[in-house]
Amino acid sequence: MAFGRGKVILLGEHGVVYGHPALAAGLGVGVHATARVSESDDDVIVARPWGVTARVGSDEPLALGLQAILEGMPSGVAGSAGSAAEGRPRVHVEVDVELPGGAGLGCSAAIGVAVTGALDALFAIERTAEERGDYSLRWERVFHGNPSGVDNAMAAVGGVALFRRGQPLQSVRVKKPLPLVIAHSGESSSTKEIVAMVARQRDEETQRVDEAFGAIAALVNDAKLAVEAGDLKGLGQLLDLNQMLLAGLMLSTEKIEELCRVAREEGALGAKLTGAGAGGCMIALAKDEADAERLREALAKRSPLTLVAMAGA
Ligand code: MEV
Repeated sequence: MAFGRGKVILLGEHGVVYGHPALAAGLGVGVHATARVSESDDDVIVARPWGVTARVGSDEPLALGLQAILEGMPSGVAGSAGSAAEGRPRVHVEVDVELPGGAGLGCSAAIGVAVTGALDALFAIERTAEERGDYSLRWERVFHGNPSGVDNAMAAVGGVALFRRGQPLQSVRVKKPLPLVIAHSGESSSTKEIVAMVARQRDEETQRVDEAFGAIAALVNDAKLAVEAGDLKGLGQLLDLNQMLLAGLMLSTEKIEELCRVAREEGALGAKLTGAGAGGCMIALAKDEADAERLREALAKRSPLTLVAMAGA
């Protein structure tokens, strides 16, 4: 059973698309996948709990994703002569998705990494976690126009890490685990569309947007130092500042602002949207695990989905 984990971006979303750093944390929840040689003449992917079955050759997004991943795979399966026309046996892939889609938690990248892992096992391909993250960008490009690669890298590797486009993921030493509360706004958002919206803003007002990204990059670097020093209070302030800058890029919503306000009123050290924004989830940093559970209960009164994650534990 292969696994791709979900992630939260602690700071740095969107700027990371343009080469700035982002700080992210892997989640314990994600996507499990298995792959076997198919008895049918098609490559098939089944996604639970959505009840979707997609066949390569159709224009179903999951089928296009599977096709993109299969295109780079070798033709022979370990222990099999290979039966199909071009030498590669057909595959049957099943995925179990534990994450909400369109929520900023890296659902699609987690599927891509899990599917790659399951096919790697079937085709007896050896890859490091980092290599699997890189390879599964093929999947992510089907779903997002211009992915930075942070979601894939985190889905494959996890932990708390600093990511910069095109560079190896840099693991961050966490002095004190980060008690995070994740709350869904109830609004779903398309990363592809939101990244395109930011690109339009940047085309029209390059200086303003690049200055915002520069400021966010400075916060990310400070946040890395805060995580290494176990300075949760400092980290919380940096989350709040990042949220202000993201709101300035029109990436927040009334609901996200409400959840952030409630979290702060309830004693969170800081709060912000996570992922593409314009809906999806927010994160709040609590003082400790017990406080995170209390905060989660407060947010659950206003959010359809909440969870606590101890990042870096
Ligand atoms: C999505 O989790 C993060 C974004 O920065 C997009 C990307 O990095 O590909 C919004």
